[in-house]
Amino acid sequence: MITQPVQVQNSGRQYLPDSTTDDLLELPAGDRSPNQFLLPLTAQVNRDDCLEIGGCDLFGLVQRYGSPLYVLDEETLRTACRQYRDAFRKYYPGESQVLYASKAWNCLAVCAIVASENLGIDVVSGGELYTALKAGVDPQKLYLHGNNKSLDELKLAIESGCTLMIDNWLELQTLADLVKGKNPVRIMLRLTPGIECHTHEYIRTGHLDSKFGFDPNQVDEIFKFVSQQSELEFVGLHAHIGSQIFELQPHQDLGSVMVQWLSKAAKYDLKIQELNIGGGLGIRYTESDDPPSIDEWVKVVCESVVAACQSEKIPLPKLLSEPGRSLIGSACVTVYTIGGQKTVPGIRTYISVDGGMSDNPRPITYQSVYRALIANRMSAPIVTQVTIAGKHCESGDILIKDAALPETRSGDLLVVMSTGAYNYSMSSNYNRLPRPAAVLVNQGEANLILQRETYEDLIRHDRLPERLK
Ligand SMILES: Cc1ncc(COP(=O)(O)O)c(C=O)c1O
Repeated sequence: MITQPVQVQNSGRQYLPDSTTDDLLELPAGDRSPNQFLLPLTAQVNRDDCLEIGGCDLFGLVQRYGSPLYVLDEETLRTACRQYRDAFRKYYPGESQVLYASKAWNCLAVCAIVASENLGIDVVSGGELYTALKAGVDPQKLYLHGNNKSLDELKLAIESGCTLMIDNWLELQTLADLVKGKNPVRIMLRLTPGIECHTHEYIRTGHLDSKFGFDPNQVDEIFKFVSQQSELEFVGLHAHIGSQIFELQPHQDLGSVMVQWLSKAAKYDLKIQELNIGGGLGIRYTESDDPPSIDEWVKVVCESVVAACQSEKIPLPKLLSEPGRSLIGSACVTVYTIGGQKTVPGIRTYISVDGGMSDNPRPITYQSVYRALIANRMSAPIVTQVTIAGKHCESGDILIKDAALPETRSGDLLVVMSTGAYNYSMSSNYNRLPRPAAVLVNQGEANLILQRETYEDLIRHDRLPERLK
């Protein structure tokens, strides 16, 4: 039984039905990084046997901000930012810049935090770009992606002074026309490197059959075209091979493939300034996930780029990376309140919570697996296996199948771990559920960063034609 506040980091132990919740948790060891833990770094259990994050008791947070609730730990996010930044300084002899892939979670507060850690930001739409600009991010550290940018998005990007990641011919030609006779814009070309990695097919982007980027057999043609456009300032090349990747080999291969193309660009008199090797480092969603640390990933990437530049005899480019999930994924948990339960004899027990696929669409989209615990009785022994059901009118709205938990009661707080990446950012109003609030916690202080949506918010953009009134 836990009676004193303790650090609760997760071990690789099995989630066995006869263990207690704290058996799963242990102090962080060595140089491990946030992406290797299920809970934020500041997680601890207080005297009331309740889980605290960032010094804030989850029970108190839910009383104040309601449920469901995203709880984002500032210290974990900042630690991951610093680990990336420091590792690039350690392993790369040239200049480097870490960009936060804000598609993982884009909102004013998150953009402001990562920017204050000297990270740049990668955005993939006009909306993400607008948010980052409103958060006060320096446009020189903003990079706009997208495989089908609208004219308005291109214009906003040009006006803001950010760098455009060009994905295809139409975009390249449209942009060249838009900027004719005007100030040059910085562009990077996104290539499909033809590197396979083992992850879900929807989050794999570097294999040749992908909607993203120029096909490698087009590079000569593109380099020639770009070299003739004085208003397009070629900055360098980009590739991103996929997400939630645990192997290091694909990123090692990527470094050398990209440097060979940079070297080819130089033959067209294109000045090599930057190389962006994307993101993709995985995080721990379950005890069996064992991703490399941030330090290990950065080391492999840097060594591969340095070796390839030496062999191609080209100067080291400024090395950019774009991690999303591994920066923010482990920094957040989602707290739900348990409602009813249904037992189908001999088959399973369903426990329903007050959110689901609208605040976390990853299980239904990617069959993603998560872990949960009961936050208000942390020392209760794990004695049961239940299925956590969301509240949506959809049979597939299951957050966790066969979750090992203590005995649960209606009103208990169920915490789903590792929900910082691609949860809020992929959330919806399916079934007209208002989106949950999000709080940023740090050293006992909680700040609301996303207000809970109201029913009024839900109909804000509805219009009722006169004749229907
Ligand atoms: C172009 C690009 N860069 C970076 C990322 C971030 O990937 P991750 O969150 O896996 O680090 C993504 C995500 O899919 C992406 O599409």
